[in-house]
Amino acid sequence: MSRTHRVARYETALDFAERQVAALVDRHPDYFPIYTTRGRWHHAGELWTDWTGGFLVGMMWQFHRRTGSAEWRARAEHYAQLLEHRKQDPHVHDLGFVFLNAYLPWYELTGDKRLLAVIIEAGQTLSRRFQPQGQYLCSFVAPTSLFIDIMMNVPLIQYVANQTLDQDLARIAVAHCRTTRDRLVRPDGSTAHEGIFEPQSGQFLRQSTHQGLRADSAWARGLAWSLYGYSKMYALTDAVEFLHVSERNAEYWLNHLPADRVPYWDFHADLTLPPPQGAQKESSAAAIAASGLLDLAGQTRLPDRAAAYRDTAIAMLDALVTPEYLAIDTPGWEGILKHGVYHTAKGLGVDESVMWGEFFFVEALRKAIQMTNDE
Ligand code: GLY
Repeated sequence: MSRTHRVARYETALDFAERQVAALVDRHPDYFPIYTTRGRWHHAGELWTDWTGGFLVGMMWQFHRRTGSAEWRARAEHYAQLLEHRKQDPHVHDLGFVFLNAYLPWYELTGDKRLLAVIIEAGQTLSRRFQPQGQYLCSFVAPTSLFIDIMMNVPLIQYVANQTLDQDLARIAVAHCRTTRDRLVRPDGSTAHEGIFEPQSGQFLRQSTHQGLRADSAWARGLAWSLYGYSKMYALTDAVEFLHVSERNAEYWLNHLPADRVPYWDFHADLTLPPPQGAQKESSAAAIAASGLLDLAGQTRLPDRAAAYRDTAIAMLDALVTPEYLAIDTPGWEGILKHGVYHTAKGLGVDESVMWGEFFFVEALRKAIQMTNDE
């Protein structure tokens, strides 16, 4: 495909994304959905945990940056303010997802120190999940539980440490990343979803999972969170040890993708079985990994790996903009990307649109267009 043709296809997908998000906010004002049911955002399905508000706002900021539209900026500011109270939420490990996407773009646009104060408070709140015995930030499930997903949230603490020069916060962020590397990232670069620790001593007990197939399997989205999270931590710290973890994750990713480059929900799923346990695609993991790989391509010191990461990210995005995944030819479907998965075991958002998939797809397309235009 020529560069011009690729950019045109990605721009068409972004135009469609803008229309879908505008329709969502017109139809359901001030509503933060997590996943669709039969393609519809509004339903009575369980949340499991409330962690995705920042992705809707993050898309609004992406659309504002893309078009300069005052309307998208006004929407982004309004929806961000609806999330401000979460800066004191002690119940989730997801404040990075919320504040790095809803408030950081706003602060970067304006330099308004009141916005930075919100981000700082959110980072401090998240840091209180730190378990000194085990040296990790605990998941929302229990103090004894470490999730791979937290790798995408710990950059909030590191960002705040960099802004405030708070060495305690920096130590917490780095310790969390090292514990996750040593306990959840396996020698082959794959990742476990969860680690369980002994409550008193903080001793590591075992790997586990909620959203993957098995404790010893490679849940696709978890691997994408790790790949992108360690890349973000490298960007914030310059610590090469974190670059190396992201590269290991990337090698596993590249070596285990199916022919169309969009992963199944777990790299150990039995593809002879039907969905949801078997051959179920997971478009959101592809979108996250594409965005992470585009960053990693600019970070790695290995030119052949940079080319491989970039080519794989582009191949995944080329697949995601086809009507098999992009809902552009699916009448009545309210999301952007089809074939995402939230929680297989609970039967939530399986083969649906999921809000983080939408956000990272938009983010990755914008990075890819920029990269292609710069070449
Ligand atoms: N809870 C984060 C995820 O579903 O990936």
